[in-house]
Amino acid sequence: MSAPEPLQILVIDDEKGTAEAIAESLERRGHACTIATSGKSGVAKLEQEPFDVVLTDLKMADLNGLEVVERSKQLQPDAEVFVITGFGDVKTAVEAMKRGASHYLQKPIDLAELRAVVENSAKRVGTLRELRRQLDEKFGFEGVVGNSPKMLRVLQLLKDYAPTPASVLILGENGTGKELAARALHTNGRRKNKPFVALNCAAMNENLLDDELFGHEDGAFTGAKGQRKGRFEHAHGGTLFLDEVGDMPLALQAKLLRALENGEVVRIGANDPVKVDVRIIAATNKDIQKEVESGRFRQDLYYRLKVGTIRLPPLREHREDIPQLVAHFLKEFAKRYGKSVPKVSPAVWKALEGYDWPGNVRELRNLLDSIMILDRDGELTPDDFPEDAGIKPHGSSSTPSSGPDHLIGRPLEEVERYYMEKALELTGSNREEAAKLLNISERTMYRKLQEWKKESDKKAEE
Ligand SMILES: Nc1ncnc2c1ncn2[C@@H]1O[C@H](COP(=O)(O)OP(=O)(O)OP(=O)(O)O)[C@@H](O)[C@H]1O
Ligand SMILES: [Mg+2]
Repeated sequence: MSAPEPLQILVIDDEKGTAEAIAESLERRGHACTIATSGKSGVAKLEQEPFDVVLTDLKMADLNGLEVVERSKQLQPDAEVFVITGFGDVKTAVEAMKRGASHYLQKPIDLAELRAVVENSAKRVGTLRELRRQLDEKFGFEGVVGNSPKMLRVLQLLKDYAPTPASVLILGENGTGKELAARALHTNGRRKNKPFVALNCAAMNENLLDDELFGHEDGAFTGAKGQRKGRFEHAHGGTLFLDEVGDMPLALQAKLLRALENGEVVRIGANDPVKVDVRIIAATNKDIQKEVESGRFRQDLYYRLKVGTIRLPPLREHREDIPQLVAHFLKEFAKRYGKSVPKVSPAVWKALEGYDWPGNVRELRNLLDSIMILDRDGELTPDDFPEDAGIKPHGSSSTPSSGPDHLIGRPLEEVERYYMEKALELTGSNREEAAKLLNISERTMYRKLQEWKKESDKKAEE
């Protein structure tokens, strides 16, 4: 690591002059400082954006500095907290360290000491970021999580296409991460500092979409007041993300193709074209090839859009990634709600990995969100699941009455059946998994199930 990493630093002190002096001294070293002049506004800043270092005074009128330390550690566990104490107030300083502060500075502040301490943490942050980057390379890409063969292939394609100007077509069911992938392509490409403009082609009718994409001149149609740029022009130099492109009306498809081929757009009602330099990323959950075959999607546009194609697999085809995704989202929501990352009970794991996830990763993420809002005990058990969730785990961890106690004294046959059904439930009716869970052969499992089926069919006939 050569030059120290520039840090995002939050300075909290209700003496504005002190805060400004500190910020100025650190900004001269290339760090970016945000000032808060009360404990409360400091905490509010912590809720809004990430910081590498938090510097807080301990004596403030509205909120005790110790509380700021505590909240900071909850909201941003990775950020280092330095406290500023009055001269000789070592006791409070020690208390602050107990609550997670990593250093204390005494008033009046020695700016040279301050800079030295901050440089040190810059080195640590640099190493941490480097480690993260390496981990990211191995396990994910820009928040796209996955380590299964299918997702590794997706990640590789994202990395390959990102730095190129190629149009990329992203295919996949609802909630598989198409928009996330589109953003990852943009932020890792050469246009990352230019705009990323998204437009949902299914959300409006033909005329509105035309206007949104290409803009208009004053008086071009009834209601067209003043001149307005379309999204194409807004995306100039950057990326235009055409979401649900499979739903674009045919007439607009022709106009879009022309714009792409010529590198220019004509606003509605205009005579002269405007040059645009835009990278196109498009996504659809439709079977686009079928749309082409049936004449609902122009073949020439299809080829123009799919210079690169990335297919995002439905979640049920890469269940191996569920543990990593769950960990990722639990961490995200724990941070958002100021809670610790909860433990997940085995029954819940089983259910999560066995469910079919028709809403894919979005369904998983939303489920964990609603569970995390309500969770109090830091552990996810089957009864934490909302009533209306599609997935219903069954377990006995916290409701002993639902355990197998009622089976005591029952015929062995019934006990067997209870466990087999339980195992099938837990594995989402995956017979192979269920047999493994019970440590019996799949054949035995199959035979028993057939027997019971015959019996119940017979009963039904009677
Ligand atoms: N591989 C992944 N890793 C981490 N988060 C993911 C992943 N895939 C999807 N997500 C998250 O799931 C949610 C849904 O993803 P996104 O909106 O990108 O899906 P989509 O394919 O565009 O869905 P739709 O077709 O419904 O528009 C987002 O919050 C996204 O961040
Ligand atoms: Mg989407």
